[in-house]
Amino acid sequence: MTTDIHALLDHLWQDYTRLNPQAQRIHALLAVRGDGVVNDHISLRTFDHPKLGIDTSARIFESFGYTAANEYDFPAKRVRARHYEPPEPDLPKVFISELCLGEFSHGVRDIVGSLTRQVAPDSLSDVDYVIGGTLWNPMMHDAYDRLRQESEYAAWVSAFGFRANHFTVLVNALSSFDTLAELNDFLREHGFPLNESGGSIKGSPEILLEQSATLAPPVSMQFADGTADIPGCYYEFVQRHPMADGGLFQGFVASSTDRIFESTDHLPTERA
Ligand code: NI
Repeated sequence: MTTDIHALLDHLWQDYTRLNPQAQRIHALLAVRGDGVVNDHISLRTFDHPKLGIDTSARIFESFGYTAANEYDFPAKRVRARHYEPPEPDLPKVFISELCLGEFSHGVRDIVGSLTRQVAPDSLSDVDYVIGGTLWNPMMHDAYDRLRQESEYAAWVSAFGFRANHFTVLVNALSSFDTLAELNDFLREHGFPLNESGGSIKGSPEILLEQSATLAPPVSMQFADGTADIPGCYYEFVQRHPMADGGLFQGFVASSTDRIFESTDHLPTERA
């Protein structure tokens, strides 16, 4: 059982960097420039199933003093989200989203239902629920493909389950880069493919938030009928801008985060 927030975040980070080794390589490249990384937020995904929704994932963070802040809607993705503010400023925010299953076909709901039915009731009350991974047996690869046709998000949660979808570099805390654009150039020069959907930078100083992300590198996933490389976890970069009162904007903007979700849609080698 995880008894402190630092241990929980460390566990999420270890699992995340195993799936996305880019993060540690980027940390090392930034360290050469004298920059340490401040984590702006971690992001978790789930289904709006009555037992598995945002509230269930939030419970452990709330037990460590996190408080619910703003809610967001992503109608094009059929996803909603809430972000949680940390009890201390040096801890990351937590962004939890859920897929609105009722808006999908019977086919998608049947496949997801066949997975969620396997979740043992006691795993829901376990504080380590958010690091539990898939709480169901591996699915058939064609079921994954079927989900992916309607929702890349549904496919991702079905394959990866409960763990961090991404961690996020706070660009404001880097001293060797003034802008997100400069950081993006640096990442491209070092061979990290970025999510270019709608341009690499989502948002603008005017809406107080700029975001970019790598394309999730492939993970060799064990399906019921064999293994296949599928998109895993991406690394996100956020530059926050000052509000009228001088403080940095601390929220999220649905219109720009919408395209960040697409960072897990395709492998870097696939044509988007
Ligand atoms: Ni994010």
